[in-house]
Amino acid sequence: MHKPFDFEIGRLTGQGSESVRPPLGLAQAPERGTFFLETFGCQMNDHDSEKVAGVLLARGYRQVETAEAARLILYNTCSIREKAAQKVFSRLGEYRAKQSEGKIIGVLGCVAQQEGQGIFERAPWVSLVCGSASYRKLPELIAQLESGNHRVTGLDLDTDETFESEITRRDNPFRAYLTIIEGCDKACSYCVVPYTRGPERSRASDSILREVGQLAELGYSEVQLLGQTVNSYADPTPSKMRFAELLLAVARVPGIRRVRFTTSHPSDFTLDIVEAMEAQPKVCEHVHLPVQSGSTKVLQAMQRTYTREQYLEKVAMIRGARRPIAITTDIIVGFPGESEADFEETLSLLDQVRYDSLFSFKYSPRPNTPSLRLNDVVPEEEKSRRLAVLQDKQREIQSAGNKQLIGETFEVLVSGKSRRENQWSGYTSSCRLANFTSHAKELLGTYVQVRVTGATPNSLVGDHMV
Ligand code: 5AD
Ligand code: SF4
Repeated sequence: MHKPFDFEIGRLTGQGSESVRPPLGLAQAPERGTFFLETFGCQMNDHDSEKVAGVLLARGYRQVETAEAARLILYNTCSIREKAAQKVFSRLGEYRAKQSEGKIIGVLGCVAQQEGQGIFERAPWVSLVCGSASYRKLPELIAQLESGNHRVTGLDLDTDETFESEITRRDNPFRAYLTIIEGCDKACSYCVVPYTRGPERSRASDSILREVGQLAELGYSEVQLLGQTVNSYADPTPSKMRFAELLLAVARVPGIRRVRFTTSHPSDFTLDIVEAMEAQPKVCEHVHLPVQSGSTKVLQAMQRTYTREQYLEKVAMIRGARRPIAITTDIIVGFPGESEADFEETLSLLDQVRYDSLFSFKYSPRPNTPSLRLNDVVPEEEKSRRLAVLQDKQREIQSAGNKQLIGETFEVLVSGKSRRENQWSGYTSSCRLANFTSHAKELLGTYVQVRVTGATPNSLVGDHMV
């Protein structure tokens, strides 16, 4: 399901002039070049890595499973919270020694975009820094390194070429991710995304539909439309397709059985999206609707553009649909100025909405963001306490919610086979994980009916109904 997101600004600069090192000796590359790619962070990053792999494979590179076996080591990074960014530098530390073996170490993604050239100072053994909008230039950047450049960067943000995804190498054989909108024009005061992924750019609807058609022909039956604020989609073509119309159009593509979308911003969540979900069962019955806090005061400090009451109106609109629609969310605890009473309001919101699942985070101050300057900081231990209280409450809500589903039957797209005999797993339309028993020989990639016989806070347990 949803994973945290991330995202800044710069220019393509091949800085060869200061080169002191000899060429890196990729004499046989790109044909016999090998690369290792590790991804941190959100679904957008997972999908970006699919694009990176696609670009390199198309140029004759071969992907390998370990950094040891690779000439080119790439980290696709996340900077949404400090911990994620720190992880990248600790991983870079681990591979410091490798550089002396003549490897190229590259930092891609949000930390690359955010830190830019600063990465070379912190980790001088890195020779390639490239943000998400410049991945098509990777072969060119690597060629610059091969021809003797010491360090290269690709940090442009004003490019839409990441949308040209015929070169994408998709990892999941059943579900295809598809970015329909890049960047973010919201200005949440805690968030680095507008800096690391830049302003909003929507992909042309005809190009999206063409790619969905190709995906269906390749055998994908489920597509997940991606964007930091996916429902702020603004079609740049004359047909000016609204997001809800796009959902319906994608669902009509022959061969497509499921359409998902994430992440929705509450302020742009309109009734026509709910109506599209009602009218078209192929649009999955799940909305990821980050609230961040249950306190209007905190929401204002976060610059979230809605109040608690306005958010609850959106929830009521979704709950009023003729189909049951699962709602999941993101919550930040310990934002500067969040009092105990504000936190209690978040807890009461959980009781009121009864989310099907949630992602919760301790507030993490990030570079360049407006909230960095806010006083009244919540101590780290208090953030941890609030996080634990919140998670305990949510576990109870999910446990009770999932138990209520015992006896019901759901359609599951089978995506996993356990090592234990006859055990399979997959997701319902509402994005619930279902582990189930079946004596069928092969189910991967098929849609089956699963009757729920048990439940845990995070999954359903059931039997395949034949
Ligand atoms: N600190 C903590 N959580 C954050 N998120 C975004 N920025 C921060 C931050 N500075 C969370 C939000 C967002 C999710 C993807 O990550 O909840 O919805
Ligand atoms: Fe960040 Fe807010 Fe944009 Fe989401 S909507 S990516 S939290 S600025």
